[in-house]
Amino acid sequence: MGKTMTNFLAWIDARFPLTKMWEEHLSKYYAPKNFNFWYFFGSLALLVLVIQIVTGIFLTMNYKPDAGLAFASVEYIMRDVNWGWLIRYMHSTGASAFFIVVYLHMFRGLMYGSYKTPRELIWIFGMFVYLALMAEAFMGYLLPWGQMSYWGAQVIISLFGAIPVVGDDLALWIRGDYVISDATLNRFFAFHVIAVPLVLIALVVAHIIALHEVGSNNPDGVDIKKLKDENGVPLDGIPFHPYYTVKDIVGVVVFLMFFSVVVFYIPEMGGYFLEHANFIPADPLKTPEHIAPVWYFTPYYAILRAVPDKFLGVVAMFAAIAVLFFLPWIDRNPVRSIRYRSAAYKVILTLFVISFLALGWLGMQPATPVLTMFARIFAVIYFGFFVALFFISKNEKTKPVPERVTMK
Ligand code: HEM
Repeated sequence: MGKTMTNFLAWIDARFPLTKMWEEHLSKYYAPKNFNFWYFFGSLALLVLVIQIVTGIFLTMNYKPDAGLAFASVEYIMRDVNWGWLIRYMHSTGASAFFIVVYLHMFRGLMYGSYKTPRELIWIFGMFVYLALMAEAFMGYLLPWGQMSYWGAQVIISLFGAIPVVGDDLALWIRGDYVISDATLNRFFAFHVIAVPLVLIALVVAHIIALHEVGSNNPDGVDIKKLKDENGVPLDGIPFHPYYTVKDIVGVVVFLMFFSVVVFYIPEMGGYFLEHANFIPADPLKTPEHIAPVWYFTPYYAILRAVPDKFLGVVAMFAAIAVLFFLPWIDRNPVRSIRYRSAAYKVILTLFVISFLALGWLGMQPATPVLTMFARIFAVIYFGFFVALFFISKNEKTKPVPERVTMK
């Protein structure tokens, strides 16, 4: 560094903890040296967050939050705004990418027991991030004011109507009208472009502060802070910068390759990312034949439909998400990584993943009697995972966990 730069940095450091923060979070933040593929998804989630915010800002410049203008303004963005199609497809593909990345990120947490002591709060903040993300996606989907925007919101908001006593008033309060209307569109716009993103960003910051307070877990679930050299540096730790800043670029490049293929060649993803019915303007007088939420909500939608009573279905749907918050206390085994856990644990985790995927598929299909039966079976398996985990984890026969991380 030149002398002027050094002086300038010293001037800043005397007024703002720039070097201190750089060292604390990057150059002297020691991460386990055995991170694998699964550790890409946290940084990728950050990347997608940035993509969504930047493309969202540009969309807002031409979008009109007005029931009479919204649909046409999106078409205008697609056809007449310079690069508008790219901005819009990046944003719509980004929504699905966000959930793919976050689901893989959460699954990593399950596999390596990243939610266990002392990382419970990282997990809890993560769960709130997940809730915020679902709210963000749900409200964003109303904005293009297509048939599925309208009727999807209609179905989901009417669920609140199933809550005893306060239900109808609550649904009315959310919509701001007796039906989904311009008032609903306006408030969803306000929440989607500013309120929820602010909460989301604050939660992500809290998530990472909590992570850096205790340090990352790793695929072995070994506590790297136990063994340190004479300078207090963990023997199995390497500085985040430059090692992981550079490694994460590999993840980013591979991610962008997949992302680009979707954005440029299959932006609707055959109706999975942008549903066909949403290319028709919202018509309050005409219900589409088949209403289904976008894929990332369908596991919960399948659970909702699996329960015959509407209110109990709503309860089951919310319980399916809420139970995840309690994972750090449901799993009572101190061994973190799946590598050293029992066969029984591996079996129930596999069944859990299968049930989640199956419910996701079932939630996209029309609810025929046979499919509803399957949805019930998989819903039982979904909840059964947590019950089984609670009991299995107590006296589980685990393998010995090594002192230090292992590297192939
Ligand atoms: C916008 C969404 C999210 C962002 C930007 C984000 C970001 C990150 C980053 C950068 C890391 C460190 C790198 C890594 O371990 O992959 C991390 C770790 C972690 N995240 Fe997230 N995250 C998000 C959502 C979630 C969700 C929904 C959960 C779970 C409910 C979660 C749970 C965790 C856990 C447990 C860790 C620690 C993992 C370990 O040390 O093994 N995160 N997150």
